[in-house]
Amino acid sequence: MDMHLAGKIGVVVGAARGIGRAIAYGFAAEGATAVLIDRDDAVDQTASELAIECGTIARAYRADVARFDDMTAVAAEVRKDFGRLDHLVFAVGIGSGKFGFPFWNIAPSDWPRVMEVNVLGAVHTLHAFAPLLLERKEGSVLLVASVAGQMGSQTDPPYSASKAALINFGQCAAKDLAPHGVRVNMLCPGMVKTELNRSIWEAWARQQPADQRKTYEEWTDEKIRRVTPMGRWQEAEEMAAMAVYLASPHGRNICGQCLNVDGGFVMH
Ligand SMILES: NC(=O)c1ccc[n+]([C@@H]2O[C@H](COP(=O)([O-])OP(=O)(O)OC[C@H]3O[C@@H](n4cnc5c(N)ncnc54)[C@H](O)[C@@H]3O)[C@@H](O)[C@H]2O)c1
Repeated sequence: MDMHLAGKIGVVVGAARGIGRAIAYGFAAEGATAVLIDRDDAVDQTASELAIECGTIARAYRADVARFDDMTAVAAEVRKDFGRLDHLVFAVGIGSGKFGFPFWNIAPSDWPRVMEVNVLGAVHTLHAFAPLLLERKEGSVLLVASVAGQMGSQTDPPYSASKAALINFGQCAAKDLAPHGVRVNMLCPGMVKTELNRSIWEAWARQQPADQRKTYEEWTDEKIRRVTPMGRWQEAEEMAAMAVYLASPHGRNICGQCLNVDGGFVMH
C-alpha cells in the first residue's frame, strides 16, 4: 500500500531512541524528510544513521519539551530550514522513576516533573508548531499516550494521570484543528522494550528484598501473560506502522481517536 508520504516533512519529538526513533524511521522509509527533536545529544547519531540507512534527508535538533522557549526556537528553525511541516509526532514520555503502588509510596513532589514533560511538553509542542500546521491547512498530529492513560494504572500514578490528561488535551486539539484540515490522534502502546519500560521494572526491583527480585524479563513476561490477551510484547516498529498509517491519506477520516496497539490490553 502506498502511504503517499514521499516528499512530506515529518517532525518527531522524542526521536533519539525508542518508539520516537522507530516512528522517525517509519516516515523516512516512506520517503519523507525526517526532522528529529530530542533533548538528548544521541539525536544527532540517530539522524545520521537514519539518513544513511533510508537514503532520505534527516535533520536533528536539540530541545527540552518542558521549556516553551526551546520549543518555539526549534519551531522557528524548522520553519527556516524547511518552510513547512506536514506531520507532527509527540513521542516524549517519562515516568516518576518510582514504584507508585500504592500511591502513597510516592510523594506529591514526585508528580510535577512528570506533568511538566508528559502534559505541558505536549502543550508547548503544539503551541509552538500550531502556526505552521494552520498555514499548511492539511496534515496530522500524533500524540503518543499509553494504555495507562485509559485505566488508572497503579504502577506509576503520575504517569497514568499524565497520559489521561494528554489524551484529553489531544481531543481538544483535534476539535480545534479539524476545521483547518489537520487531524490529531493519540497512539497508545501496550508494552514495548525501551529504556522507559525498563525503568518501571528498575523502580519495582529497588523495593524488593534481594531474594525476591525477578529479572526484567521474568517480571515483564509474567505481567504480559497476565494482562495481554495476545500474550506478547509490542514492537516499536508496530507503533511506527500505525503512526505512518495515521499520517497517510488512508487515515484521512480518523480524527480525535485513541488507537491502542497493545495486543488487546485495553479493549474499547
Ligand atoms: N515503552 C513502553 O512500553 C510504552 C508504553 C506505553 C506508552 N509509551 C510511550 O511511548 C513514548 C515513547 O516512550 P519510549 O518507551 O520510547 O521511551 P524512551 O525513554 O525510550 O524514549 C523517550 C525519548 O524522549 C526523550 N525525552 C525525554 N524527556 C524529554 C524532554 N524533556 N525533552 C525532549 N525529549 C525528551 C528521550 O531523550 C528519549 O529519546 C512515551 O510517550 C511513552 O510514555 C511507552
